[in-house]
Amino acid sequence: MAFIRKQKSNGKEYYYLVEKTKKHKYKILESYGTSPPVKYKPQVIKGFAEAEIKKILDESVDLIILDPPYGINYDTNFRQEESETIGAISLDNEKIFETFPDVIRECYRILKNNGAIYIFSRWDVSERFTSILKKYFDIKNRLNWVKNNWSMGDLTGSYAMQCEDIIFAVKGRHILNEGRATDVLNFDRVGGNSLLHSHQKPIELLNFLIKKSSKRGDCVLDCYAGSGSTIISAVNLGRKSIGIELNDKYLNIINDRLEKECYTKIKGIDWE
Ligand SMILES: C[S@@+](CC[C@H](N)C(=O)[O-])C[C@H]1O[C@@H](n2cnc3c(N)ncnc32)[C@H](O)[C@@H]1O
Repeated sequence: MAFIRKQKSNGKEYYYLVEKTKKHKYKILESYGTSPPVKYKPQVIKGFAEAEIKKILDESVDLIILDPPYGINYDTNFRQEESETIGAISLDNEKIFETFPDVIRECYRILKNNGAIYIFSRWDVSERFTSILKKYFDIKNRLNWVKNNWSMGDLTGSYAMQCEDIIFAVKGRHILNEGRATDVLNFDRVGGNSLLHSHQKPIELLNFLIKKSSKRGDCVLDCYAGSGSTIISAVNLGRKSIGIELNDKYLNIINDRLEKECYTKIKGIDWE
């Protein structure tokens, strides 16, 4: 478990997030300088992205990470779950393209100038996402998330997909933190035993993107929150966050994850 440690030096108090490794040995996870650390409870909203995003104020978000529902026409154990109908919306490829242009227009409105947007995608839908995005944003890269193993699919008639696209676009001039990185991002998939959502993204990958494109206290939005990976990462990195998700099952998972992976893991933090 991580906790906050205060240390005095030259008459000043410094704050650190530390983890005990051995008896009397601590590993510093984060340094907060002389101000006491604050972490922000996320705003988790139940509803449709296209409706809820309209309630967010102009230029109030610093970073947007979207993992929209797409690409379910293949044979996996999750097929039934992903093709189920929730309310009036069917989670298939075409439905998302009816609402996505509105969502992207709203993303542009709520994103601060010089902010960034990342969209998880796949080679066969990327072009459709980028054609919507480029009406508003400056598209900078197609990042290649290379996974340690591959997805299911046509098991005998196509190559196994080990790579996913992440479209990176900006509003204004966005400067990446911590120097230049390449467009190949190697991160392991979430292991089968830990998988709470069929499209769950790894926390380490989200940590990487959030650190590259925001700073402590910034606000991160994910309006297709799923099991809440973006929000969990944002909370633990000291960012404010907003998550929108329409499925109750996943909203419950988000709340459980927040309890287990955020709130109870850190002692001595002031929550706002
Ligand atoms: C690809 S998954 C996101 C997975 C997430 N990145 C994670 O790590 O768990 C997309 C999610 O969007 C939700 N969704 C689909 N259409 C939506 C809509 N119009 N508004 C809000 N959520 C939606 C689905 O219920 C699903 O959980």
